[in-house]
Amino acid sequence: MFEVLKQLPADPILGLSAAFKQDNNPDKIDLGVGVYKDEQGKTPILQAVQQAQVILQGKEDSKTYIAPQGVQGFIDGMLTLLLGEASPVILADRVAAVQAPGGCGSLRILAELVARANPDTTVWVSDPTWANHIPLIGDAGLKIETYPYFDKASASIKFDAMAECLRTQVKAGDMVLLHGCCHNPTGADLTPEQWHVIADIVVEKGIVPFVDVAYQGFGDSLEQDAFGLRLLASKVPEMVIAASCSKNFGLYRERVGLAAIVTQNSAQRTAIQTQIQSVARAIYSMPPSYGGALVDIILNDTRLKRLWETEVTDMRERMKQLRAMLVEKLAEKGASKDFGFINQQKGMFTFLCISPEQVDKLVKQHSVYLVGSSRINVAGISKGNVDRLAQAIVEVL
Ligand SMILES: Cc1ncc(COP(=O)(O)O)c(C=O)c1O
Repeated sequence: MFEVLKQLPADPILGLSAAFKQDNNPDKIDLGVGVYKDEQGKTPILQAVQQAQVILQGKEDSKTYIAPQGVQGFIDGMLTLLLGEASPVILADRVAAVQAPGGCGSLRILAELVARANPDTTVWVSDPTWANHIPLIGDAGLKIETYPYFDKASASIKFDAMAECLRTQVKAGDMVLLHGCCHNPTGADLTPEQWHVIADIVVEKGIVPFVDVAYQGFGDSLEQDAFGLRLLASKVPEMVIAASCSKNFGLYRERVGLAAIVTQNSAQRTAIQTQIQSVARAIYSMPPSYGGALVDIILNDTRLKRLWETEVTDMRERMKQLRAMLVEKLAEKGASKDFGFINQQKGMFTFLCISPEQVDKLVKQHSVYLVGSSRINVAGISKGNVDRLAQAIVEVL
């Protein structure tokens, strides 16, 4: 039976990690997979998470299934984090939500829910977007189209073209996938003014926003990074939100995220809550408990929440410093290109905006590992490697 299925090429990003491991250059630099790293290149367990683990160990007395929707304290804490204290849609009981296995799990069950509601839905994604959006949403049977987003030549958002596409090509009932903050892969985020324009277009055209929030707190602050999401929630009748706790809680392997649907009214919320749970039931039945239980403890304990916020701030500030350091080093080394745009971009990623051939040289000749699009994980830069990295980039330009 299985002989019809042929071996697939390595996933471009995971394949890069494998190649990095095999490279025995002691000065190799890994800027591939989107995982936060500290100065030593380690992905630490956050202090807040470590303390929550101790608390959980002391109080967890069973491994029976948790409720189908997940840990309610987790869901409520995450909705407040995303939509804000006293969010009108929460107060109006318009939000259905479940704990899901990671941001990917959230994206997939939301796509399946959309397919249940209307299998002919088209989801418009930014060009470019995170590569995994396509199979996560497309494999649920939804059609994918792209809207213009980023111009490599000017290293900036093609906002007019994006707005024009939403105005003229996207139809009522179509969905538009927006990155809540820290756009992956470009690091280029909409300004508050641009969010306002997009919000007005989606309301006017009856487009349904699909917002992916995987890096809240890594851009400007936990609050500011939710600006676009909250603006949309205040204006549209319906939208869906996929959130991940992998990055900002450092809970990658625990697979924890939230899938939320803002519905038109409380009665619909009740119906949609049963539907999203039934979607999850048909795929993996029950959510994993551990990560959600930790986030529940952190978000609902004043001291731990403050500690966690400090740790998120530290990660964000470190990544900003690394951006500045790289830009400075590149200029110092006489780069023939102005890389100042790196300082304007947000979060974990930046496009170097160099050609695939130049990327290839960085990998093969300099053991600097980055994705073919020229996306780099800023957290992979360190005080120890920035000089060599800048030198390598200058040499391939
Ligand atoms: C844009 C975006 N969305 C969602 C995710 C989901 O991550 P996870 O499933 O690990 O929580 C990621 C992870 O890299 C991402 O970059």
